[in-house]
Amino acid sequence: MKRQSVSEIREIFLNYFKDKAHSVVSSSSLLPAGDPTLLFTTAGMVQFKPFFTGAVELPYTRATSCQKCLRTTDLEVVGRTERHCTFFEMLGNFSFGDYFKEEAIEYALDCSVNHLGFDKEKIWVTVYTDDDEAEKIWLGKGIPKERITRLGKKDNFWGPAGDSGACGPCSELYLDRGVEKGGPDCAKSGTCKPGCDCDRFLEFWNIVFNQFNQDTEGNLHPLKQTGIDTGSGLERVALLLQGVDSVYDTDELRKIISFFEELSGITYSQENKTAFRVVTDHIRSVLFSISDGIYPDRTGRGYVIRRLIRRATLFGRKLNFKEPFLYKLVDQVIEIYKVRYPELAKNSASLKKTILAEEELFLKTLELGLEKIEALVQKTKSSGKTLFSGADAFLLYGTYGFPAEMTEEIVAEQGLDFDKTGFQEELEKDRQFSRESWKANKISLMTGQSADKTEFLGYDSVSGKGNIAHLFYENRSVPSLKEGQSGAVVLNQTPFYPEGGGQVGDIGFLRQGKNVFKVLDTQKENDSIIHFGEVLSGEFTTGQELDAEVEQTRRERLRFHHSGTHLLNGALRNLLGDHVLQKGSIVSPEYLRFDFSHSSALTNEEIRKIESWVNESIRKDFLVETKELAIDEAKKTGAVATFGEKYGEKVRVVQMGDASVEFCGGTHVSHTGEIGYFFIKKESSPGAGNRRIEGVCGPAVIETFQNRFAELTEAVQNLNLKIKSELGEEGKNLLITLKVPGPDEIRETLEKDGATAVTFFRDLSESIDLQVEETTSLSLKAKKSLESRDFENNSAVIEKVFSSAVDTGAAKILFAIFEDKDPNSLKGLSDNLKVREKNLLVILGSRNADNASVVITCSSELTSKGIHCGNLVKAACETLGGKGGGKPDMAQGGGKEKQNLDSAIQSAVDEAKQILTGERV
Ligand code: SER
Repeated sequence: MKRQSVSEIREIFLNYFKDKAHSVVSSSSLLPAGDPTLLFTTAGMVQFKPFFTGAVELPYTRATSCQKCLRTTDLEVVGRTERHCTFFEMLGNFSFGDYFKEEAIEYALDCSVNHLGFDKEKIWVTVYTDDDEAEKIWLGKGIPKERITRLGKKDNFWGPAGDSGACGPCSELYLDRGVEKGGPDCAKSGTCKPGCDCDRFLEFWNIVFNQFNQDTEGNLHPLKQTGIDTGSGLERVALLLQGVDSVYDTDELRKIISFFEELSGITYSQENKTAFRVVTDHIRSVLFSISDGIYPDRTGRGYVIRRLIRRATLFGRKLNFKEPFLYKLVDQVIEIYKVRYPELAKNSASLKKTILAEEELFLKTLELGLEKIEALVQKTKSSGKTLFSGADAFLLYGTYGFPAEMTEEIVAEQGLDFDKTGFQEELEKDRQFSRESWKANKISLMTGQSADKTEFLGYDSVSGKGNIAHLFYENRSVPSLKEGQSGAVVLNQTPFYPEGGGQVGDIGFLRQGKNVFKVLDTQKENDSIIHFGEVLSGEFTTGQELDAEVEQTRRERLRFHHSGTHLLNGALRNLLGDHVLQKGSIVSPEYLRFDFSHSSALTNEEIRKIESWVNESIRKDFLVETKELAIDEAKKTGAVATFGEKYGEKVRVVQMGDASVEFCGGTHVSHTGEIGYFFIKKESSPGAGNRRIEGVCGPAVIETFQNRFAELTEAVQNLNLKIKSELGEEGKNLLITLKVPGPDEIRETLEKDGATAVTFFRDLSESIDLQVEETTSLSLKAKKSLESRDFENNSAVIEKVFSSAVDTGAAKILFAIFEDKDPNSLKGLSDNLKVREKNLLVILGSRNADNASVVITCSSELTSKGIHCGNLVKAACETLGGKGGGKPDMAQGGGKEKQNLDSAIQSAVDEAKQILTGERV
């Protein structure tokens, strides 16, 4: 049989299922839609999660796909084994309440043997511990009992993906690669089976029989409709069919390895294979993730991508890459995948830029970090310890940017264990205290020190040279700062922006050769710009000339948010009036916050108008002009000054077309179009007479909507499930059919048409929010009425009340007490009781959350025998500390003292008995 390429295998699989009436569905984004708890798309079933649980209407009941997946749970073994990848493509066929075990097994065997070309005699299968049915089907298809293994929950129960969703027992297909592939013991005995850790059996197809829905507490509920979720790793299938040793030797991945061979001038060999495999795997993961809008970052998803780039950088050193190199292969790798994933080619320029910036960022401290780690490992070993401490790992993380998992991997190579708990504790401590202590430290450092004027170079550039004018250590001016010391550096000129005008200070590095100072914050005191931070290596002395490098991507986000703040100020003054004065502002990389004088809360209409005004000014792409003017000149321009701010003789005026003119020393975009788009997240009041707007600009808008729609999707799905389980058919009309944009669509729409898209997404998210709110209250009402209908007509309840009857001869008195029933339900029940017999007096009570209620009714004949329901209720309600009354044959009431309900009902019964037996006149 001809050796099939990865691309051919993919086509054979999808066509096979297409012929079996499956809809061919495109891969979804690596950023899962509607699942905020799931970091990445980890399996083909992720995009179909709601189809399995029945949370949405089904567009089809059979589907097949080839899904981009990212799994980083086994990151440290990736590159070291034959078959692990972080990024991979997963082939799958799915049934949503359509076929089940029999066909799923039939398809798996038929497709793999008769279409992909696997040798049936070498196929082994596993079934779940007690799944006799699956075993029987396999036997029927000609797989003999000795090639069927039963495995337990650990191996043969899959899901859910994320913290809840469909899951179930599975059955897997393995290929026997021959005893010689087994570990030494296995090969000798020849008795190992699937489930053994050795390489003899390789799993290539997993069929999950979805039978349960796991809730967020981990409880399993049977699914209303069973389903099938199969996963077959494309790279693994290719490894087996192409007869190669590892996934990295299959045609496409081998091509990437060749690119790295060419770039490094080193041949891929037994000795260096791990490094080649790591960079090959990671470049794919990083490319596909960034292209799906998951950018390297400090936390969450972005942090995983940062880790991958850093790990690739580290292994790249083993191939002599000392400079950024990953970005150089972007175009070649895209070439392989662009037909299947056209989004890659569309984003190639920004992909390269992002990867390069991230590589550069890490390379700045990598050498130093590696020296430090070496020293720390030696220190640990020479003190006779085998545990690398959490505090040391934290130092590497905080100062040199080494992800903890990477440190763990490096120290493991040196035979040391890693103190994970210790690291987490350090991290937690840092979160709690660092801000406070840093602030305190800073203030004391600054007090009373006066240094010379620093010239600011950062309007036009994020890097530059400067000479050290002053150094400070522990509140004192010092001639030098040494490795490990935290202190402050003042230069004669610097591109670092000091906190001011709301904009937070820059971070980055000052360096001269191997002498490196990490800048954690920049502040201004009098005319000096002060860099606060720590000497990572070497020594600094006054007079030295340094290279100053600001962290560029962070500065970019600051520029978007600062220019966005000016436009917002312009919008407020234009739309609300000149009484709007700036009362405070924060410009951070994550968001902007603007406080201003205005007496009343903004209406939705006003918020929309303000947002549109800003977006319109962005779209007009005004040139951002800055001028240094004498204060009197500046005032003549009509520029807005910030209330309470002190200005010198000369001020800087920033103008954005006719949208805004302000006094401002901050850093800005050069054209408003660069901001991209603006979105108001929240409007509130920081105190009387003032309002506060929190908003985001540029990439932060994309992230905000991606998160918002994911949360809404999840909320809708949970609500639909609740309605289905509580109301069944009755709730059908309440179910919400949701059409929300996925993460990719959000990004693309915003990039194409920012202003309109922001309004559209805002409207859409608000209307879904409203719909969820209304549906929740309607479903509560429906549930109540269903419950009361059930209650009134429930024959067990009716029988039970009858069994309480007190027969006085002339009449029967029925009485009962319930929990949480409204008076209408009690009346309904009384009616259903009274149709059964004549001469009935019904006394019903309900104990509710805050009170108790009583309903008393009787057959009409009893009113002529002295019964007056109104009087009975009145007396009962007095016992409850409340009021009640009504007609002779029907009355109701209640009171707060629900603890007296038993005695109130009992007294009514006694009273009626006396009346009916004539024992009382
Ligand atoms: N969800 C299962 C897996 O990932 C089958 O697709 O293995």
